[in-house]
This record gives sequence, structure tokens and C-alpha cells, in this order.
Amino acid sequence: MRFPFTVRDDIPLYLAPMAGVSESPFRRLCRRFGADVVVTEFLSAEGIRRENAATLDKLRFGSDERPIGVQIFGADPVAMGDAARLVTDVFQPEFIDINFGCPVKKVVRRNGGSGCLKDLSLVESVIRSVSSSTHLPVTVKIRSGWSEEARVPVEIALRCQDAGAKALALHPRTRTQMYSGRARWEEIAAVSAALEIPVIGNGDIKTAEDAVRMQRETGCAAIMIARGSFGQPWIFDQTRALLEGKPKPDAPPIERRFEIALEHAHMAEEYEIDPRGAAIEFRKHLGWYVKGVPGSAELRRKLHAVESLLEVEDVFASYLANPHRYDDARVVAAMGDEGDEVEAAPAAA
Ligand SMILES: Cc1cc2nc3c(=O)[nH]c(=O)nc-3n(C[C@H](O)[C@H](O)[C@H](O)COP(=O)(O)O)c2cc1C
Repeated sequence: MRFPFTVRDDIPLYLAPMAGVSESPFRRLCRRFGADVVVTEFLSAEGIRRENAATLDKLRFGSDERPIGVQIFGADPVAMGDAARLVTDVFQPEFIDINFGCPVKKVVRRNGGSGCLKDLSLVESVIRSVSSSTHLPVTVKIRSGWSEEARVPVEIALRCQDAGAKALALHPRTRTQMYSGRARWEEIAAVSAALEIPVIGNGDIKTAEDAVRMQRETGCAAIMIARGSFGQPWIFDQTRALLEGKPKPDAPPIERRFEIALEHAHMAEEYEIDPRGAAIEFRKHLGWYVKGVPGSAELRRKLHAVESLLEVEDVFASYLANPHRYDDARVVAAMGDEGDEVEAAPAAA
């Protein structure tokens, strides 16, 4: 299946667009760990065309992130076209992606994101306007419909293709579902069978095995991973190995995980203008990196209080010097924490 930009031609692995997560440092890290394509978080077309400083700041990316798509959202075809033109002229990504999937109230209230799915002629107008404003390929990311009653993924996908979309990612939930229920992979299969353009499967991939299973069950041309990459960017390398029939590489041991987390934190610190803000913003990633390690509740509590990278280094060093202190059952009891600690207990024994 031909992609509209240069990419490995078997089954490309995408890091999904994710607000507050798929920022430049994480995108670079995931590229290093085997993601073939990355996409920016969604950016408002209005913000771009008005050259809002905070929005434009999020458009910065490095050459090591390519191929990269810039994702834009909005319900005004003219504004979307203007935004695409500016992104093309100034930032020159490999493709422009249109968000028709965001379920957040603030966005759908103005018919942006999945709000567009209530009016498929609007979806077409937006795609046509963006396509005529850029020489870059235009791709789309959709949900299966606005609501259960309007759950028509194949119809939506065909209309996107007819309007000029060059690839389509499907997260097979409706807007009403938000993130509840399960992603219906059978809809990815149906859309893949109906379209001539590449279809990228997305939704509920938590492990490399899930990714391979989705591809085998749906025949999708590419695989897109969002939450499954949190704290484990190596999921891409693991998926690639399984797709090639090789054994799955083990997840890195704790010491290496901490090194990766620190590398990522350094990249974030370099990228962000305000170092304290960067450390605070980075806390969520730290929580994800330590998920499942013995004593993670106590570790997470410490990491969620850091205000600098130096403090992160100290917390990791102190953990590695004495991991058992973190397993202390009294600490766990005092924290009132259950899940993670129960899960981690056998490893600590
Ligand atoms: C924190 C977060 C932010 C997201 N932001 C975006 C976004 O900016 N654009 C978009 O198209 N989808 C966004 N999504 C949706 C994901 O790209 C993806 O479609 C969804 O999480 C399902 O995939 P998963 O099960 O692999 O997480 C976001 C999801 C999460 C969890």
C-alpha cells in the first residue's frame, strides 16, 4: 500500500498525535525506539493563522523527527486552508493531518475535532479546502461516528477519500463513547477493505502483541499507538521485532528505564524555555516510566513533587541505592495505595 510520503514500505508504526504528550522530545525518543512516523499534537487552525505564539511554538520540530505530520483542527474550511498554507510554507512537514476525532467539549462545541462528524459535507469541505491550500499530502484521523446512531465508519472514510485524503487513521470509537468500551477493530478491517488509500489502525494497543494482533485481524496498512507508548517507547522496537517474526526484545531493566527517562527529561529541558515548568510538565512521564517497578507508589509520590531535573536524578539514584526501602510494607500501608504495590510485591521478594 503506497503512503503519500517516504516511509518504510512494509507496515509503518506511528506514534499517535497526543496533546501534551506527543511533543518534540517524546517524538524524537519514539523515533529512536522504532516509530516510523510521528504526528504533532492537534493545533488550532485559528491559533496558527493568527500566529499565536504558544501555538507556533508547538510547531517546532527537529530533522530527526521526520517523517512528521502536523495535525490541525477547526471547522472553518477557510481558516483550515490558511493554517495549512502557513504550516507548509514555514515548517514543511511531510504531511498535514486533519483531526476529526477529538471528543473534548471545548473543541466539539465549535464543531471542531469529532464535532465535524455530525456534518459529513463539512468534513468534505474542510478536506478540500486544506488540500487546495498545500502541495503536501493531506491525511485525516477520524472516529467511527458522532454517536452510536451515527456510527458509520465506512461511509465517513469513503467521503474523506473522495474529498482528497491520502491516508486515514481510524480510532474505532464514537465521540459519545469518549474512551469507554473497547475499540472495535472489526471497523478498522471494514474500512481497510473499502478504501484504496492506506488505513492506519488505532485503539487499545497496550503491548507489542496487541499491535501485531490488530494488524493481522484488520489488514491495516499501518499501526498507530497512543497510550501504549506511555513510559515504554520501546513498544515500537518490540512491535517491529514481532512483525518480522523475531523474538520480542525484553523491556529494559529498571536501571536502563531510569536512564531513558532521564534522557527524555534532558531533551524536554532543552526544548522548553522554562526549566521549572518543563520539570513540572514532565512529572506525568516520570509516573509512567516507573509504573510497575517495585515500590512504584512511593517512587511516584517523590517524582510527582520534583521541580528540577537534578531532583529526578537524586530520586532515581536513591532508589537504585536502596530499592527495598521503597518496598517497605509500612510505607505502602501508610500511603493507602493498593494496585501497583500488590502487583509489584512478587518481584520485590
Ligand atoms: C493524552 C491524550 C491526548 C490526545 N490528543 C490527541 C490529539 O491531539 N489528536 C488526536 O487526533 N488524538 C488525540 N488523542 C487520541 C489518540 O491519538 C488515540 O486516538 C486514542 O488515545 C486511542 O488510541 P490508544 O488506545 O492507543 O490510546 C489523545 C489521546 C490521549 C490519551
